[in-house]
Amino acid sequence: MKLLVTSALPYANGEIHLGHLAGAYLPADIYVKYHRLKGTDVIFICGSDEHGVPITIAAQRAGISPKELVDYYHPLIKQSFEKFGIEFDNYSRTSLSLHYQTVQNFFLQIYRRGFITPKTTSQLYCPRCKMFLADRYVEGACPSCGNNEARGDQCEQCGKWLEPFELIDPRCKICGMTPERRETVHWFFRLSQFETNLRTWLASKTHWKPNVMRFCEGWLKRGLVDRPITRDLSWGVPVPLPEAKGKVFYVWFDAPIGYISATQDWAESLGKPDLWKDYWFNPQTKLVHFIGKDNIVFHAIVWPAMLMAHDEFILPSEIPANEFLNLEGAKLSTSRNRAIWLSDYLSQYPPDPLRYALAINLPENRDVDFTWADFHSRNNNELADILGNFINRVAVFIKRYYCGKIPQLTGTDPDSENVIKMAQEIVLRIEGLIEGFQIKDAAREMMNLAAIGNRYFDHSAPWRTFSADRAQCDRTMAVCARLISMLEIITYPFLPFTSRKIAKMLHLGKRSWHDALNPVVPSELGETEILFQKLPEEIIIQERSKLESGSDNNVKNKKEPSMISIEEFKKIDLRVALVKSAERIPGTSKLLKLIIDLGKEERQIVAGIGEAYSPEAVVGKQVVVVVNLQPATIRGVESFGMLLAAVDGKQVALIRPDQDVTPGTTVT
Ligand code: MF3
Ligand code: ZN
Repeated sequence: MKLLVTSALPYANGEIHLGHLAGAYLPADIYVKYHRLKGTDVIFICGSDEHGVPITIAAQRAGISPKELVDYYHPLIKQSFEKFGIEFDNYSRTSLSLHYQTVQNFFLQIYRRGFITPKTTSQLYCPRCKMFLADRYVEGACPSCGNNEARGDQCEQCGKWLEPFELIDPRCKICGMTPERRETVHWFFRLSQFETNLRTWLASKTHWKPNVMRFCEGWLKRGLVDRPITRDLSWGVPVPLPEAKGKVFYVWFDAPIGYISATQDWAESLGKPDLWKDYWFNPQTKLVHFIGKDNIVFHAIVWPAMLMAHDEFILPSEIPANEFLNLEGAKLSTSRNRAIWLSDYLSQYPPDPLRYALAINLPENRDVDFTWADFHSRNNNELADILGNFINRVAVFIKRYYCGKIPQLTGTDPDSENVIKMAQEIVLRIEGLIEGFQIKDAAREMMNLAAIGNRYFDHSAPWRTFSADRAQCDRTMAVCARLISMLEIITYPFLPFTSRKIAKMLHLGKRSWHDALNPVVPSELGETEILFQKLPEEIIIQERSKLESGSDNNVKNKKEPSMISIEEFKKIDLRVALVKSAERIPGTSKLLKLIIDLGKEERQIVAGIGEAYSPEAVVGKQVVVVVNLQPATIRGVESFGMLLAAVDGKQVALIRPDQDVTPGTTVT
């Protein structure tokens, strides 16, 4: 059996936050790490989703091109995942030309097979922005629940999938204008043709999670309709038909094909360009898509239908979709900046405590709430006080009483036998749980093993038996060392950084999951270290207030690369100044030396307006000046301040107050 595991490709329009992690990335990483330990032939594929209106709108807001935006976020996202210990075999991106080719070939194949039809449709068009308003470019009231902020592709409140023209009182997201309807041709994927096949296929997925099944049944009951898969946008994969010039694919058509192109990209980077076929063309491969619940329809209905239409690739075997993560009792919202960004977290805390706090509280069956109080308690009361404490007290004891030499297991007693048996049962239970996508319960079992170790240690009281019954004490410590050796393996999927530290402590080399049942125990202890630092209680309040204010500068910057906060804007001291005198700086055509009156002081500044203005033309005028700019010397002339002007090529226009004010007046 081969395993091809994917996590939903995140949009490269912002950084990764805790909601992403809990939905599609951490559970997938745990699942994959477990399978790697087991020796399964597994690859873990992901990448940035770089097309679609979420990208173009964010770029437009930031005043940069979509390509510049994704080039900014793609490496940041990739790095955050790495630092958090999420190990993809490949983290690709959908702006690669390889992806474009794969998408176009995919389309052409289903086109040839007759599953694509063009249709003239009437779409919303903004006369002011001079563009068709696809998807999230329109907002309006939801026809089904009335939410006034429904987007053109979906209402976030009731989840209804929408077409832009279904919105009541639609408005252009860019300029607010009411759009008009205009005709344009679009290419439709004949989803309706796959209703029967999908129904049969889904009926065989009896073991799928009820949240996914309920969703699919709802869709099938309402009946499937053909979906337009092209858009009038300039950013995206071009539709490879001569009559479709200027059209690109809808992002939800190209993105899932990214799973294939990212696997091709992986194979190429290994120098084995055909290796991807061993997975995608192989009926023995289990294709597992980890996603959040907002992606269910695309992965469980539309994407399988696309694959059926194409007819060469395998279909998904498993779609373990998670529900949502809320924060401190309310919805996570990136637009309102109510989120915890992974890079912020990592700048303050190590990865493993968050991996654990999320894993043990995953939204597997229902929405869950992440709170800093819970995080704090998981770290202090479970990681430090149970897992860390067990390993630490055993290590300290062996160092102190046995000079670091680990006693070997000889003889047995009911207590020791029992604890080893319980530990082995835990290992087997974790296997079953992870394979059944019950990651949360598996994390609980992992901690349970450490708790059993602690109870065994307490109960055996080696500090007493050391002198009273040395053989008994030896046995206790040998059993404890064995439990630690098991813990090194079973913590690895959840707490990879900690697991590596434990391995160093026991001088353990490469091991497999199966070793956990019968672990090797070395004869000597290596370097030991404290595995988890306790966190002060203050962090709960601090982190909470950051979330509430929602105006943390760093966080805001991350959402929009070229956005600044109001605080940053306020750092610029802008004043109205009166130009007292002006003269050309000899040897230049552009530069004027001005003396300006700021009310309380006079200053000399150099301004590059000499081609548009003569010295006479500016004297006596009121202008706007940045007064707290560091002084500079330009062509040997001191300049302290900068004059504002609108510059459009050769055309230069001074910025002046609409009416005269007292020199020195603040501009805000
Ligand atoms: N970018 C999408 C989201 O964040 C997910 C895309 S998953 C894929 O919701 F299947 F299309 F790749
Ligand atoms: Zn507009």
